Amino acid sequence: MMYQFNREEYEKRMEWYQEARFGMFIHWGIYAIPARGEWVRSPEEMPEEEYMTYFKEFDPVDYDPKKWARAAKEAGMKYAVLTAKHHDGFCLFDSKLTDYKSTNTRSGRDLVREYLEAFRAEGLKVGLYYSLLDWHHPDYPHYEDQYHPMRNNPEEGNEDRDFNRYLDYLHGQVRELCTDYGRLDIMWFDFSYGEGEKCMRGETWRAHELVSMIRELQPGIIIDNRLEVSGEGFGSMWEGDPKPWHGDFVSPEQIIPPNGLLDKNGGDLVWEACVTMNNNWGYCALDTNFKPAGMLIKKLVECVSKGGNLLLNVGPDANGNIPDQSLEILEGIGRWMKKNGESIYGCGKSGMEKPDTGRITRKGNTLYYHLFENTIGAMPLQGLSKEQVKSVRWVHSGAEVKIAKGWVYDNYPDVVFADLGPDPVLPDPVDTVIKVELK
Ligand code: GLC
Repeated sequence: MMYQFNREEYEKRMEWYQEARFGMFIHWGIYAIPARGEWVRSPEEMPEEEYMTYFKEFDPVDYDPKKWARAAKEAGMKYAVLTAKHHDGFCLFDSKLTDYKSTNTRSGRDLVREYLEAFRAEGLKVGLYYSLLDWHHPDYPHYEDQYHPMRNNPEEGNEDRDFNRYLDYLHGQVRELCTDYGRLDIMWFDFSYGEGEKCMRGETWRAHELVSMIRELQPGIIIDNRLEVSGEGFGSMWEGDPKPWHGDFVSPEQIIPPNGLLDKNGGDLVWEACVTMNNNWGYCALDTNFKPAGMLIKKLVECVSKGGNLLLNVGPDANGNIPDQSLEILEGIGRWMKKNGESIYGCGKSGMEKPDTGRITRKGNTLYYHLFENTIGAMPLQGLSKEQVKSVRWVHSGAEVKIAKGWVYDNYPDVVFADLGPDPVLPDPVDTVIKVELK
């Protein structure tokens, strides 16, 4: 049966995902050996033969996805997405349709299967990333494609290439993933591009047929919006007129939308910001520009306060280890999440203005004031009147926060002030959360 959009089913399948708010993106492949990011072949216009040396060498002896899953879980993440195939075409699973796969490397292992088992065992939802581009398949356009490593090589003309044969391969591999690997929660395609004659979007991928197959094999699965767009553009959900291959969520990349995201008519849109920890997706040996845990905690809060998810990336190395810096960052986030997770999970926009001192997330009748900095004197709970407030509590301890009284505050009778005590340093210097129960 061909898939058609249905609002009710849509809202149902998006429930867990909007509760979850925080996931792990994992970019991993043989590009971890050159260690210059997952795109390496394209900017360097590296020929296939040269790249094959990495295929022959790949042997991630330390690969233990249980460790990855534990790190994700401990950080407070609720789901993960692993690159089953990236643009280089290398498959981390035992596809019958290609030899270019992990089971044919020295490791001999089906890396996807082991990942899925390990993450499910930790109670995490599991997703797979699958690249629409393929720089290994002979039927994918080479010469004059926008990104192919051989785009400038006229000897790599496209006369004998049969794009439909590539699409059969793509559809076939997605069928394998949706059939042989148990329940999948997310399919993350990447990406559509080009205009006019070179348009590689939507039905170029035989997207209606593809999505119909996926939804039949994996009812309830969530699919991203990159069968239509990339990080650039929003897709037909934004248009308010979902195409049958519409994305279930918008996928802003390396940005948190300044005002969150609404559709063209002002309706709510589901979105997920995907963000790197340093400046690369795939492992990059020389990129040590990691974002501190404290910053990433605030960015997660920002996403939730704007009604979105954060998919935070790690790029394991060629031996199969998540870099130490990333693990430390995850631990830092996890320490905060253990105390303050209730202000993230199941929370969303507050409908209130952003206060001077931080942000607000909301779940039903509970407002979470995230305090990134202190005030002089008691903390104004901006946007609230005394009549609305039932109780105020520190989230990390559950202790009561008193409403401040006295002449200092009498000049501002319309404002509720929370008395955070005599210490000018907040209990958590990154983000201290107090929750306000409304009547
Ligand atoms: C991109 C890149 C890529 C990365 C992805 C993550 O569009 O091509 O390498 O996997 O974004 O969102």
